[in-house]
Amino acid sequence: MKTGEARKRAEKIRAEIENHNNLYYKLNQPVISDFEYDLLLHELETLEKKFPELITPDSPTQKVASDILKEFVQVPHEYPMLSLANSYSTGELADFDARIRKLISEDFRYVCELKLDGASVSVKYTEGRFERAITRGDGEKGDDVSANIMTIKSIPKRVYGTAVPDNFIVRGEIIIHKEDFRKMNTIRVEEGEQPFANPRNAASGTLKILDSAIVASRPLDCYFYYLLGTDLPSDSHYENMKAVSSWGFKVSDSMTICNTIDEVTEYISYWEKRRKEVDFEIDGVVVKVDSVKLQSKLGFTSRTPRWAIAYKYKAEQERTRLVSVTFQVGRTGTVTPVANLEPVLLAGTTVRRASLHNADQIELLDLHCNDYVYIEKGGEIIPKIVGVDHDVRNTGSKPVIFPDRCPECNSELRRVDGEASWYCPNEKACPPQIKGKIEHFISRKAMNIEGIGEETVDLLFTNKIINNSADLYDLDIKTISGLEGLGEKSADNIIKSVAKSKEAPFHRALFALGIRHVGETTARILANYFGDIEAIKGASVDKLVMVPDIGPRIALSIMEYFNDTDNIELVERLQQYGVTFISSSGSSLTDHNGILAGKTIVITGTFAKHSREEYKELIIKLGGRASSAVTSKTDFILAGENSGPSKTEAAARLGIKLLNEEEFLSYTEQL
Ligand code: IVH
Repeated sequence: MKTGEARKRAEKIRAEIENHNNLYYKLNQPVISDFEYDLLLHELETLEKKFPELITPDSPTQKVASDILKEFVQVPHEYPMLSLANSYSTGELADFDARIRKLISEDFRYVCELKLDGASVSVKYTEGRFERAITRGDGEKGDDVSANIMTIKSIPKRVYGTAVPDNFIVRGEIIIHKEDFRKMNTIRVEEGEQPFANPRNAASGTLKILDSAIVASRPLDCYFYYLLGTDLPSDSHYENMKAVSSWGFKVSDSMTICNTIDEVTEYISYWEKRRKEVDFEIDGVVVKVDSVKLQSKLGFTSRTPRWAIAYKYKAEQERTRLVSVTFQVGRTGTVTPVANLEPVLLAGTTVRRASLHNADQIELLDLHCNDYVYIEKGGEIIPKIVGVDHDVRNTGSKPVIFPDRCPECNSELRRVDGEASWYCPNEKACPPQIKGKIEHFISRKAMNIEGIGEETVDLLFTNKIINNSADLYDLDIKTISGLEGLGEKSADNIIKSVAKSKEAPFHRALFALGIRHVGETTARILANYFGDIEAIKGASVDKLVMVPDIGPRIALSIMEYFNDTDNIELVERLQQYGVTFISSSGSSLTDHNGILAGKTIVITGTFAKHSREEYKELIIKLGGRASSAVTSKTDFILAGENSGPSKTEAAARLGIKLLNEEEFLSYTEQL
């Protein structure tokens, strides 16, 4: 290859890498696997080695990819926060071992750790107190995400223990446990929101949310893997991590000392087999020289330490042909592209369909009909397309086009500013939206109407017997027993089950209405707070946001729902049929004229007389709002023992009063 040609290729790879960095770190929407990314980087490194004159200071081989967002304050790192070199084979590990042995003559040992797949953070402590948390950023400076990190319960705000240095920095990975991720995504789907693609995207996306109250509601956790400072407890990284753990930080207990590179390889294959059993996502193993002194001796390149390497597990991947793309319309009108594939075996199951997320994804992949595509299983169950085999594309094949009209009702699709999804606005007449709403209404967690499934809804809708959920209560045996596939017995079951559903408690009926953003939990909160549907209908946005955990987005959606005469009519019909729209106690649990009416109270610390939950309930009962974040709207703080320093500091800054347990009980006349 001539220099000119090499320069062109290097520039092309650099542009591609920049694009993928942006997708991965800023948009949390990667379109290629880590392995493919590393192949690009490796090709660039090889080119630059051969033609050193092509190296530029800002080449991705020379610097760390940046995840900086302009909305946050940027803070310099006291110690650069670098990346790790990746390896995919035992041969590469042996090379790493040989490189080190060439540089140091004395005996040494390795520490092996799991490589957690999340978002890294650097947290500084001064005199035992949490001071600041910064993202990796570009390695030299990162975003100050202290407010968000403070919401993570497992990260200590005060550190106690032996040999705690006056100043130290701990680095770790913010993750979401697999089970929490599944629960979180189920709730998101129920509430009409896009599910996250995998736990890593969810964790790193959450870290960059500006509203800490939302961050607090997400199940973030953090495991630490690196201690920095001038007077560390030990020269051994392993011992330092044990100390970090004794100070109250979470450290993965899979960390192990290995004396030889063969032991390292054993560790790698041990965990590769058990990868699925670990309750957070891991994408490999990190191998580090244990001695801190030797680490300094080995030092760093511009991007990575010479004393550590990552061994990356390959995500199981398959290549198959894209047969077609179907555009599905959900109950809230969102149009989701789904790829239909030539069946292929991947990680033990036959895959026929893969998710494509949204229109942007199709464009980013530059997907064409009949393309050969690579599929991978991420944290989710449905696999996704991670790349296209461009080498075997048929000439003349047509690009996959996202429709501009609803594939079901031909309405022009719309897109909310700043959101990735297109939706069909014809919610009243678009068949899958009507059927989807009825299916939601009868679902187990809503009205739990047994005997009717998707197929029966389709049958009743197609025969123009039902057009909304209230029509279910008008069904009679004669009409439906004659329908194809419905005998008298099943018809009777349906009628009985519909009648029984009238006993479902208020919060389930409220959830069943399918109001955008009102999931099961929100419906329960609203039902408890307001007591009946009339009070919710009549509530202004200002009043709705007074309810604990109800933000402006939910409040607006509720307002919109009850501003629509068709919805009002639907609820009135359901009421007439006897569906329960009033709490069993017959009234709200909240005394709207109570002593705390209109007050926002933050609870912090631990208490002697009642639990935090009991205090929360008491606040709601007395008309107040219990909130997690201290803001200028906070009226006072109920501060127990060991109150979080961040909350008390914020209170002092904003001039907010602190009440201790006794003072609070006396103020609310509970003594
Ligand atoms: S040590 C200078 N240990 O992997 C070395 N990193 O690809 C600092 N990671 O930025 C990193 N688990 O976010 C280290 N046990 C572990 C890790 C780990 C996950 C992440 C970390 C780092 C990235 C590099």
